[in-house]
Amino acid sequence: MTTTAPATPTEGEFRQSYYGAGEHPDPEGELNRLRLQATASWPKEARVLREFGIRPDADLLEVGSGPGFTTELLLQEVPQGSVTCLELEPHQIAEATGYLQRRAASPPRIIEGSILDAPLPDASFDLVHARFVLQHVPDPVQALTEMRRLLRPGGRTVIVDIDDRLWGSVHPSADLPVIEKIIEGRVAMQAARGGDRLIGRRVPALLREAGYTDIRVEAVAVSSDELGMAALEPQLNVRSRYALMVDQNPEAAAAVAHVADLVDQFLALPDASAMLLVFMFTGVKPEQS
Ligand SMILES: C[S@@+](CC[C@H](N)C(=O)[O-])C[C@H]1O[C@@H](n2cnc3c(N)ncnc32)[C@H](O)[C@@H]1O
Repeated sequence: MTTTAPATPTEGEFRQSYYGAGEHPDPEGELNRLRLQATASWPKEARVLREFGIRPDADLLEVGSGPGFTTELLLQEVPQGSVTCLELEPHQIAEATGYLQRRAASPPRIIEGSILDAPLPDASFDLVHARFVLQHVPDPVQALTEMRRLLRPGGRTVIVDIDDRLWGSVHPSADLPVIEKIIEGRVAMQAARGGDRLIGRRVPALLREAGYTDIRVEAVAVSSDELGMAALEPQLNVRSRYALMVDQNPEAAAAVAHVADLVDQFLALPDASAMLLVFMFTGVKPEQS
């Protein structure tokens, strides 16, 4: 297969690199993946958030709240504070509104808009939280600068994101070169849509460039040995996660099918063990800026 960018529309046609409305070939599967992705790492993410100093009375802005799974969890961290959501895509807002009406005692405000130019006043929040969003934004420095504008002096931005070349590990190890090749294919596809699946390594420098101080980094490992393989399976579902890439770049089909078969064989092993890595970054808005 080729790892060069597939023949997709040019960067300028994408407001963001995550799936648009109707674009995912298996929307229910994708919702299930996001839900399990949120719950699998949440106890560790919440521990790090508390180490970063989240206060129960914080006014929190969640950027890119998607279908609302992390919103529900963030609400529990600020019982005396507030959560406001900023989300670009109307179909995600509709999904989150329904979900949170069923699940949250007092559903948060969800505002439609982009973090590149947020329709919110300066200095309104103590904490801005963006999980798996920065990788999809075409101008991450502008997004971080806008987050800083929205923070009160001394407030904190928290970025939760990935770096696909530090994705994790499987044991017993499978055919890593072929796995790495399809990962690079997806890195290229997301780049062609204006995103960056290697954003993890850049976030500290981007935070500095956007004027933050007190920058800190934590790694969160999600392991099948702690959670059971079922909790991680949607992340390893190559057929669903690479379906759009195959649609857009049929040359990739054979490599993706090969890796999907390898994953099936791996999952059937009695001692299969998988570990996935997520990174948490934070920076503070200086008191004087
Ligand atoms: C991968 S989903 C993550 C959803 C949620 N944060 C989670 O962790 O499950 C990324 C979300 O960010 C939203 N998004 C992308 N670019 C955005 C922007 N510029 N402003 C606000 N939201 C954005 C997308 O529409 C999508 O709902």
